[in-house]
Amino acid sequence: MTTTRGLEGVVATTSSISSIVNDVLTYRGYNIDDLAENASFEEVIYLLWNDKLPNKTELEEFTADFAKNASIPEEIVSQMKSYPIEKVHPMAALRTAVSTLALYDEEADDMSEEANYRKAIRLQAKIPTVVTAFSRIREGKAPVEPKEDLSFAANFLYTLTGELPEEVAVTAINKALVLHADHELNASTFTARVCVATLSDMYSGVTAAIGALKGPLHGGANERVMAMLSEIDRVDNVEPYLQKAFENKEKIMGFGHRVYKTGDPRAKHLREMSRQLTELTGETKWYEMSTKMEEIVTSEKGLPPNVDFYSASVYHSLGIDHDLFTPLFAVSRVSGWIAHILEQYSNNRLIRPRAEYVGATNQTYVKVEDR
Ligand code: ACO
Repeated sequence: MTTTRGLEGVVATTSSISSIVNDVLTYRGYNIDDLAENASFEEVIYLLWNDKLPNKTELEEFTADFAKNASIPEEIVSQMKSYPIEKVHPMAALRTAVSTLALYDEEADDMSEEANYRKAIRLQAKIPTVVTAFSRIREGKAPVEPKEDLSFAANFLYTLTGELPEEVAVTAINKALVLHADHELNASTFTARVCVATLSDMYSGVTAAIGALKGPLHGGANERVMAMLSEIDRVDNVEPYLQKAFENKEKIMGFGHRVYKTGDPRAKHLREMSRQLTELTGETKWYEMSTKMEEIVTSEKGLPPNVDFYSASVYHSLGIDHDLFTPLFAVSRVSGWIAHILEQYSNNRLIRPRAEYVGATNQTYVKVEDR
């Protein structure tokens, strides 16, 4: 039996959703660069779930379906109000609320293809509303009902702030959502697939995936990047901060990747967005610190930035609370989780690997009073 720490290099399934080959990321065969520049997030979701881009009518119907399903049950709002709000991280709130959403979905345990597709729409539509409602509740504000005539990206900002967003913010959020939508067999997607391969329901798979995304080695890194940038605070602090971190063998959040070796193709889009948005806000120091960090970490450690690095300064520039960065990642990635859950159901086999036992052997039971 051979073991591979962290399953590095292990090919655990076949998939026709997204691929990473020679550091190029594609969704259903479309290069991420092409989609980031041209596609709406709604089109990308459709592509991930249906293996084709929608025509105009299909897109209109699909978008309308999201709008119709974006409201969340009053019970979820009441439940969120009862959370110990000052102590609860929004990712923990999201994990709990998504699990609770299943209790209010009569089709939660209906495993038919049609019911699963309807649940996919509901989950994708309601998750952003859960995130923004929680954000408002903890600020002592009432949640805002999504508007049926707004795009997915616009509704996220509208339900977060209660104000109609500017076009530049909507474009930025749309692009960020497209860039985060899917990523082959990343940790949270694998978690979702393992969960539903037992033939558990879609809500369980998505709840499990949110738990995995929350960790700082995965989606939780973007919030920590902003904490690090805030601590560094000035461009001339970057070098001493990094030298000390290198000496202490600390992990620099937002750098490194299990799969990419020459660089994460999503990072360049987020870097450019960071440049533009920090210029608009007049707070160019976030971009300048970030590029200085990239220069040093890449040259000294050979580690390029990943998707979580520049997304931090992008979201900060859009006025999004730092602990909402990872929930925003989930708002996008749920589209990929669902695509993988549907793919898993369509050709399912239980995922059950082995462990190489390295513990004690030949032990003999000793009564508790004799130990
Ligand atoms: N800072 C400093 N050193 C690093 C970093 C980093 N960010 N990433 C990797 N290394 C070093 C490790 O210390 C290790 O060095 P060693 O061989 O001398 O011990 C070597 O590079 C290999 O690192 P591993 O942690 O074994 O690489 P792995 O593939 O297991 O982990 C991961 C990948 C988790 C992304 C890692 O690079 C990391 O912890 N990065 C920081 C957290 C982060 O940004 N996560 C977001 C990833 S993208 C996403 O999930 C959305």
